[in-house]
Amino acid sequence: MKKNLIIFGTRPEAIKMAPLVKAFKKEKKEFITKVCITAQHREMLDQVLSFFEIDPDYDLDLMKPNQNLFSLTADIITNLKAVLEDFKPDYVYVHGDTTTTMASSIAAFYSGAVVCHVEAGLRTFDMKSPFPEEMNRSVTGIVTNIHFAPTYTSKENLIKENKKAESIIVTGNTVIDALLYSVKKVNTNVFKDVEIENLKKILNPQKRLILVTGHRRENHGKGFINICNALNTIATDHKDCQIIYPVHLNPNVQKPVYKLLDNIDNIKLIPPLSYPAFVWLMEKSYLIITDSGGVQEEAPSLGKPVLVMRNTTERPEAVDAGTVLLVGTNTNKIINETKKLLTHKDSYLRMSKLHNPYGDGNACKKIVEYIKNI
Ligand code: UD1
Ligand code: UDP
Repeated sequence: MKKNLIIFGTRPEAIKMAPLVKAFKKEKKEFITKVCITAQHREMLDQVLSFFEIDPDYDLDLMKPNQNLFSLTADIITNLKAVLEDFKPDYVYVHGDTTTTMASSIAAFYSGAVVCHVEAGLRTFDMKSPFPEEMNRSVTGIVTNIHFAPTYTSKENLIKENKKAESIIVTGNTVIDALLYSVKKVNTNVFKDVEIENLKKILNPQKRLILVTGHRRENHGKGFINICNALNTIATDHKDCQIIYPVHLNPNVQKPVYKLLDNIDNIKLIPPLSYPAFVWLMEKSYLIITDSGGVQEEAPSLGKPVLVMRNTTERPEAVDAGTVLLVGTNTNKIINETKKLLTHKDSYLRMSKLHNPYGDGNACKKIVEYIKNI
């Protein structure tokens, strides 16, 4: 029996690892699979665990209010020692590019386990953007034995860094597995979600919906002030639209957003949504404005145009296809590109193509099969 330890800590990692946990747990004859959460996020992580019905075997419970990268990194490595010594996994799986990813991969490397990186090979080749994620995924790549790359572009990035081709397996992104699971579950008759019911009450069906999310560290401060000023102008200039913004719990985001955007009649600031409610809202939206990585991957599968409030992206596939546009955090650029989508039908139609550059929903199956056959 092969022993798997799947480690994650934040909302996006949990969403993208949940289908892998389920896929491995189904294969009881071949694998013992345990889940360890660092709880780098708390409430936002628990929302995901609850929807996907995952009960972790180890919970390090590390989140502190307004935590810093120094102590978080140290705490993760230090606390994982006991878990790794207790379970002695053969394979450790980490995901993406958070501090949990980087610190857990180092701890796994120290333990001697085979390190498997899910969503490997994304790069901007700019260490400051996104910060600190480009460093996190690059360091993780160094200690990784098996790279599960979502696309051929990400495989190429790893080849450029002299990783051996046979250590890289292109799988598609597990986020599409999660998205399809979620859409299916939400559409069953028995599924009832209070958050979706509450959203129905605040949504005005006469108005086009602009969905907004944002949290990137490099946008903290000036970037968020620019973003809020842009959203304020968009709300004033387009009264036929309604902006819904589930605000990330990071205090560096909460403070400027609630200060600058509270009490504007066509802007609704709400707490982070559970995954099914957020997916439901993406489907209902006319366009999405975000700096999120995961949303850039999900929106093309739902045919929604995305304006990305970043200067670089490690996800060029949807940009190349024309459904994602980088607008940075320049106030005027955000206002002008939004206006174009709201007023020029042709621009809107060009960007609202439905396509699946990030996978077909079988990424987890490919990962499980690969490990089975080692
Ligand atoms: C983290 C990741 C980022 C990822 C993002 C996804 C790092 C350095 N950053 O950024 O790569 O894209 O998550 O959302 O790994 N908080 C809560 N409750 C929660 C979650 C956060 O209160 O459930 C607050 C806490 O005060 C916490 C703070 O947000 O200290 C920052 O959390 P942290 O994980 O350090 O940074 P994020 O901005 O969430
Ligand atoms: N998401 C969610 N609730 C929200 C906002 C986003 O479940 O209120 C989901 C979204 O569908 C995507 C993921 O969270 O799968 C993205 O998380 P985030 O933007 O925090 O992180 P990133 O992807 O940028 O690392």
